[in-house]
Amino acid sequence: MIKPRDPLPFSLAVAQELLAAYNSPLYVYQLDRLVTTITYITNSIPYPDTQFHFASVTNGNVALLQVFRNHGWGIHANTPGDIYLALAAGFTPDRIVYSGSNLDRDEMRQVLEWGIHTINLDSLSQLETLRDIYRDEYIKPRLGLRLNFPALTGASRIGVHPEQFGKAVEIAREAGLTIDGIHFYRGTGTNATQAFTDAIETILSLASQLPDWSYLDFGGGFGYPYHHEKAAFDWVEFGRILSERLSRLDRKIQLAIEPGRAAIAGSAVLLARVVSIKWQGKKQILGVDTTVANLSVPSVHGGYREIVSWHDRDELFNTDVCGNTTYSRDYLGRNCQLPHLKIDDIIAILDVGAYGYAMSSHFLHRLRPAEVLLDGDRHRLIRQCEDYSILLTNQIFEDDRV
Ligand SMILES: Cc1ncc(COP(=O)(O)O)c(C=O)c1O
Repeated sequence: MIKPRDPLPFSLAVAQELLAAYNSPLYVYQLDRLVTTITYITNSIPYPDTQFHFASVTNGNVALLQVFRNHGWGIHANTPGDIYLALAAGFTPDRIVYSGSNLDRDEMRQVLEWGIHTINLDSLSQLETLRDIYRDEYIKPRLGLRLNFPALTGASRIGVHPEQFGKAVEIAREAGLTIDGIHFYRGTGTNATQAFTDAIETILSLASQLPDWSYLDFGGGFGYPYHHEKAAFDWVEFGRILSERLSRLDRKIQLAIEPGRAAIAGSAVLLARVVSIKWQGKKQILGVDTTVANLSVPSVHGGYREIVSWHDRDELFNTDVCGNTTYSRDYLGRNCQLPHLKIDDIIAILDVGAYGYAMSSHFLHRLRPAEVLLDGDRHRLIRQCEDYSILLTNQIFEDDRV
């Protein structure tokens, strides 16, 4: 299992040094944790013909994408923007898998012009768009269908029903292409290993209805134990069962795995400083210098992220950690157990590597923090913090100040 992190990510001295160098709030990525996780996931699937693709929807920092590239992973792209970032990070088009939704013709053409080798489409209509614009001068892509099978994928808007497979094969043939793959994604954040392993048999039997079936893309969706004491997705068990089953097939199938959250969630913390303290009865209400717009998951999506501090933990108090706006949902954490803190004390919000910075926004007109990569005792800036000029970017108005 991926070991949950120690409660404190690094020493107080390091936290102070980082905030002195880059200001607060600050996203801090720990290279050693990221590499350990990448290696762990890679080694947990013994099936020989396996490729790993990091789902960059969770984190599009190019310096981090390069870490995945250096460890032999490709990229899984949900959107053309994901592809653009992957190319900037130095991934070649054969290392990028696209499996998104609802491209217009120009975007579909762009994906083909970029030379993306593997394209998983989610509707017959998207397949028709591809057929209509496909030209022989493009690299011939491997084509896959995103599976829609409510018993496995839930009632999802994404994907093609098995009864449409025949029609899909026909449309692809009209462009001189074949349907080579099946793409399965059961939704994000599932820690129940069996929810994946129980699906294998059905997926394989559905996929084998495709005459040219040669690859299986198994998602995406693997959970991360944000509640450190609770069950975690069991990569070794999953890898063993899937590999064993694929090895028994009567044809050679390539396997693709595209974890997002599980690969990067635990490698980052968001540091912030306390700027205000009040008590409501026995509850400590901390105001910190970051906001739900910098990290939307806990408050907007109800996700839990543990919050820790380095200060004397002898006595802990029920604490709400509140962002620096008046938005009624601006809570980074509710009912956290924290010591009595003082102004300028540092807190760390743990496990924010996935869907953290990537989901930040300018809602509330707070600026986005910097991102830093910590490698042992060295650190380097991998994204600048913003200044107020960013709030004017692309706005068109008459500047009455001059
Ligand atoms: C097709 C696909 N694969 C992978 C992912 C990453 O999911 P997760 O972070 O749950 O692994 C997503 C997320 O939206 C997705 O849509």
